[in-house]
Amino acid sequence: MFRFTALRVPLVAAPMAGGPSTPALVAAAGEAGGLGFLAAGSKRAGAVAAEIAEVRDLTRAPFGVNLFVPPQTPAPTEAVDAYRAALGPLAAALGVSLAPRVEADDDWDAKLDLVAAARVPVVSFTFGLPPMAAVARLRAAGSCVLASVASVPDAARAVALGVDGVVLQGVEAGGHRATLTPAEEPNDLSALDMLPGARDLGVPVVAAGGFGTGEQIAAALAAGAAAVQLGTALLLTPEAGTSAAHRAGLVSPALTETVVTRAFTGRPARALANAFVTEHPDAPAAYPEVNLLTSALRQAAARSGDLQHTHFWAGTGWRLARAEPAAAVLARLWADAVAAGAPQR
Ligand SMILES: Cc1cc2nc3c(=O)[nH]c(=O)nc-3n(C[C@H](O)[C@H](O)[C@H](O)COP(=O)(O)O)c2cc1C
Repeated sequence: MFRFTALRVPLVAAPMAGGPSTPALVAAAGEAGGLGFLAAGSKRAGAVAAEIAEVRDLTRAPFGVNLFVPPQTPAPTEAVDAYRAALGPLAAALGVSLAPRVEADDDWDAKLDLVAAARVPVVSFTFGLPPMAAVARLRAAGSCVLASVASVPDAARAVALGVDGVVLQGVEAGGHRATLTPAEEPNDLSALDMLPGARDLGVPVVAAGGFGTGEQIAAALAAGAAAVQLGTALLLTPEAGTSAAHRAGLVSPALTETVVTRAFTGRPARALANAFVTEHPDAPAAYPEVNLLTSALRQAAARSGDLQHTHFWAGTGWRLARAEPAAAVLARLWADAVAAGAPQR
């Protein structure tokens, strides 16, 4: 089974759904001595199977696949309807119709079957904890199973299910926070704050959130992290499938800070602050309903170069992201981490 201690470079290319994670990025991270992740959330099983095959064509390095755990509670329908009404004028201005309500089916069962059959070296879950039977099944198939969590108590719940490790995501993280439900208010702790508690759980802990310098990476490893996960730091790499609009947002001088918001998807997520975030501070806690509702609107804004009404997921360290090859990012950050005291492997 995969072990973090076997990595030449203890850096993980985060799973990033919505485009950024590609087989090329996963392979580049693996070839550079780290661990890459495919993002299977919001994708059909067939598309994920094709990506797994592509990774295996590109590299023999171990890699991971990340799955979204389906929501366990029904969305607040009235609040979603009220949000749809509130978005009406913007939809009209952008010339889009708001999507009718669509039943959420993330192809969960088929994707679980796929990762088990494909014997994926590492499988991670976010947006909730996987059923114990799924953990046991994947471990029996030889996978190292990780759960993404945003607090030490949730890390303990994951460990009780038998996972092999946790991804501990702090407040600085770009994109969705790994709270177990859309309604939960995320804490404001960094991975460094939570590492001492999580380390005592006795499984490897991958620290995530806001990592963009070697000093930060060395500090997390010194605090007991088995590896550090990088998301935003890789968004501008050529291997990432980050959209042109997202790349433009990340380098725009007009967008000057990041905030955690439910406005785009109904789940707390860190994005560059813009008018949409400011205009919708009370978006309902309903994922994936709000995600589906705002999708056409965000796409229309992105197409027209409107920086104010689309989502630019970004962690607090977004200004440190560089448009250089993924292998160069990993090599640079690891060399800096070693210079800052991280033990050479
Ligand atoms: C664009 C984007 C998409 C993301 N998608 C996922 C995802 O599909 N699954 C997941 O577990 N985490 C996802 N995350 C969170 C990352 O796994 C990771 O926790 C986060 O990027 C770490 O913070 P950083 O961006 O500051 O490095 C995403 C993050 C970003 C920026």
